[in-house]
Amino acid sequence: MADQTNTALIVRVSGQTLTLSKETIQRPSPAANQVLVKISHVAQNPTDVQSFDGNAFGDGVVLGCDFVGKVVELGKDVTRLARGDIVAGLVWGGEIKGLGAYSQYCVADERISFKVPKSISNEHACTVPLASATAWLALFSKGCLDLDHSQAKGTSVLIWGGSSSVGLYAIQLASICGFDVVTTCSPKHAELVRSHVAKHVFDYKDEKVIEKIHGIVPDLKDAFDTIGVVESSTAASRAFRTGPGNLCTVRPGKANTQNVLSGTHVTDVLVWTAFLKDHSYGDFRWLEDYELNSELFENLPSWLENGTLKPSKPKVLSGLDAVPVGFQEHRDRKISAYKIVYEL
Ligand SMILES: NC(=O)c1ccc[n+]([C@@H]2O[C@H](COP(=O)([O-])OP(=O)(O)OC[C@H]3O[C@@H](n4cnc5c(N)ncnc54)[C@H](OP(=O)(O)O)[C@@H]3O)[C@@H](O)[C@H]2O)c1
Repeated sequence: MADQTNTALIVRVSGQTLTLSKETIQRPSPAANQVLVKISHVAQNPTDVQSFDGNAFGDGVVLGCDFVGKVVELGKDVTRLARGDIVAGLVWGGEIKGLGAYSQYCVADERISFKVPKSISNEHACTVPLASATAWLALFSKGCLDLDHSQAKGTSVLIWGGSSSVGLYAIQLASICGFDVVTTCSPKHAELVRSHVAKHVFDYKDEKVIEKIHGIVPDLKDAFDTIGVVESSTAASRAFRTGPGNLCTVRPGKANTQNVLSGTHVTDVLVWTAFLKDHSYGDFRWLEDYELNSELFENLPSWLENGTLKPSKPKVLSGLDAVPVGFQEHRDRKISAYKIVYEL
């Protein structure tokens, strides 16, 4: 019988102590609409560190959401992918026991993954799925900003935190769809965000940043806060000059929006609504966002190939043993306009 083992980084919980331990577990098997992927690269996201530090899923889980690798097995209904394809995929690492990207093998939904164009390296490609899906849903989901593509020409959207990973994709996706992008970042990243087609760029630490935004876009109605702290949500809402606007925050539960300008319509994005679920929970928008998200993933290969969408800059670390180092880099707030990627 073929080898069914899988080396993965397992969260171990012992009393108050949390550790990451490299162990051998069972290889996941793909459901009808999934493929099994042998992973070559995993990208680190803030949620990995937050889930680990907050012990979100308990003992025995595998974290990690963004990965790239080779398709080695197909679910029975898969039509879009073939064995041997190099794909980038997204999973909710930790939610399902034994399933996460910090491992040798993972499964990918064929509509929440995309074939990596030959012109893009695997380390660049694995920075794309989670951050771009978050940006796309924040801009276009009915539960978020719900921007109208047909009204894009001449309409501005503010992306607060343009040099974050989510921010860089939000700038580009809004621009691709025809919106004018106004953004904030630190001055050292101004050229980078301009090269990602932001039209107007401001320093978020400038005392006059709000007045300057008012001067350029007095009629601003929509803003996406990709940072989700009190200062960023408050400041982004103050950019609405002529009346209440729509603010989508990246912080689930609309946390940190208590000081936004009175009258602001606040929504939050939750990237996990991109997954297909056969039930609903509260306001979660499972099926609708699955369709919306797969529209993005259908377009990603051509946008990446023709250069309209630039992937984030990867900082490559070697192997699963390096994950604690990468997690610490996030906790130390050192990550700035790059994404940590592990080469397996
Ligand atoms: N709700 C969801 O589904 C979801 C999904 C993905 C991410 N998130 C959350 O979204 C946030 C961003 O994630 P990420 O991966 O994009 O982060 P990231 O790339 O690690 O963000 C780092 C960047 O944040 C910028 N920054 C920090 N404080 C700022 C502020 N007050 N104003 C403007 N920019 C600021 C820094 O910009 P400078 O270097 O220019 O100073 C830095 O480049 C995280 O909190 C994450 O947990 C939520």
